[in-house]
Amino acid sequence: MDHFIYRNGTLHAEDVPLTEIAATVGTPFYCYSAATLTRHYQLFKQALDPLPNMVCFAIKSLSNVAVLKLLGDLGAGMDVVSIGEYLRAKAAGVPGDRIVFSGVGKTRAEMRLALEGGIRQFNLESEPEMRALSEVAASMGLRAPVTVRVNPDVDAKTHEKIATGKSENKFGIPIARAREVYAEIARLPGLEIVGIDVHIGSQLTELDPFGQAFDKVADLTAALRADGHTIRRLDLGGGLGIPYTRSNEAPPLPLDYGALIKEKLGHLGCEIEIEPGRLISGNSGVLVSQVIYVKHGEGRDFLILDAAMNDLVRPAMYGAHHDIVAVAEPAPATPTQPFDIVGPICETGDTFAKARDLPLLAEGDLVAFRSAGAYGAVMANEYNSRPLVPEVLVRDDHFAVIRERPSYDDMLSRDKLPSWL
Ligand code: LLP
Repeated sequence: MDHFIYRNGTLHAEDVPLTEIAATVGTPFYCYSAATLTRHYQLFKQALDPLPNMVCFAIKSLSNVAVLKLLGDLGAGMDVVSIGEYLRAKAAGVPGDRIVFSGVGKTRAEMRLALEGGIRQFNLESEPEMRALSEVAASMGLRAPVTVRVNPDVDAKTHEKIATGKSENKFGIPIARAREVYAEIARLPGLEIVGIDVHIGSQLTELDPFGQAFDKVADLTAALRADGHTIRRLDLGGGLGIPYTRSNEAPPLPLDYGALIKEKLGHLGCEIEIEPGRLISGNSGVLVSQVIYVKHGEGRDFLILDAAMNDLVRPAMYGAHHDIVAVAEPAPATPTQPFDIVGPICETGDTFAKARDLPLLAEGDLVAFRSAGAYGAVMANEYNSRPLVPEVLVRDDHFAVIRERPSYDDMLSRDKLPSWL
C-alpha cells in the first residue's frame, strides 16, 4: 500500500497534488511519501514483535539524509556499505550502535572511521577482511563486534544481477567453512563474535528461499554454540520483494516473513536483525517526468520524456518494469494506445517501456513512474551532462525539497582545467 492516489482528477502524494510540486521544482523529480515510509518500517516492526529485534534500513536503496532522519527518529537502525553511507546515517542523527557495516570491500580507512564513530557490528565477508579489521581494531585498543556473512548456497529465484546467496556469487563465506572461520576469528585479538549474518538476494517474491537459508542459519547457530562461540544476534539481511505492477501476484507480506523468522529461528533466543531496503522505500517514491514530444514513428509512437536512463536506470539495467501513469487522472473508459516510452539520451537502451498502453498524452503532460523510491535516485548519474534529479519529501499537506537540483554552474564547477591547458 502507498499514499500516491488520484484525488480530484490529479495524482497526489498524500495531500499534495504532484502538479503543485512540479510547478515549484520543475521536472523531473523524485517524490517520497513520509506516511508510506513510516508504514512500511512499522510493518516490519510489527512482524518481528515480540522478538528482540532491530530493523536496519538498507541505505543503499534510498540514502537521502532527510529520509534517514525520518526512519532513524522512528527507531530504525541503518545498514551501510561504505563510509559515505555511514556518514549519511550519522548526519541523520542515528547513533553508531544502530549502524551495521556490510559489504565485501571495506577498506582499513573505512573500518577505522567506523570504529571511531561507533558501530553496532561489522558483517565480515572474507578472511583477509577479518584479519584487516582485527589489526585495525587492535591498533586502536578495541575489539570490533562482528558477524560473518555466510553464503548458504540457496537459489533466491530472482534476477541474476541481484541474487547473492549462490556459491558462485562474490558474497560471504561458504557456510560449509563457517566453523573453521569462526574458530580463527575467536583467536584474533581485535574481534568479538556477536552473531551470524546472511543475505541471499533482492526482490524475492517467494518465502521458500528465505526458509531454506534460515534453516541453515539455525543449524549453524547450534554448531557454533557447541564450538563455544557466543551467538546472540542473527542478521538476516534484506531482500523481501515488492509488487511492481498493480496486476501481478502479490509477493509475501512482511507479516508472513516475520512469521517465518519466528518459526525457523524464534526458539534460539537471539536478537533478530533485518536489513530491508526496497520494501521500505520502493513504493514510497515516484519519479515525475514531463512529456517533451510525442513522436510518430514507423508502426509505433514514442513518448519522449524529460527523464532518462541516467535518472532511473533500472529498466535499462535489469529490464525492470515500472508502472507509468498519467498524473492527470484519465476519465473512465478513456481509450488508450501503445507507446514506447523513452528518454532523451543518445542510446537505444534509454527506453523505459515498449508498447505500454496509455491514454493519449500531449507535450507538457506529466507522468509518474511508480515504485521508484528504491534504487532510483541513488543510482542516478549525470550521463549526457544531465544534472541529478531533485528529491522532494511530502508529509500530509506539505512538501520540502530534500535535495536540490544542481545548477549547470554547480555541475561545471567540478571540472578543473590543468594549468598547462
Ligand atoms: N543487505 C545487503 C547486504 C544487501 O546487499 C542488500 C541489497 C540489502 C540488504 C537490501 O536489499 P533489499 O531489501 O532492498 O532487497 N539495484 C538493484 C538492487 C540491488 C540490491 C543490492 N543489495 C535493483 O534496482 O533492483
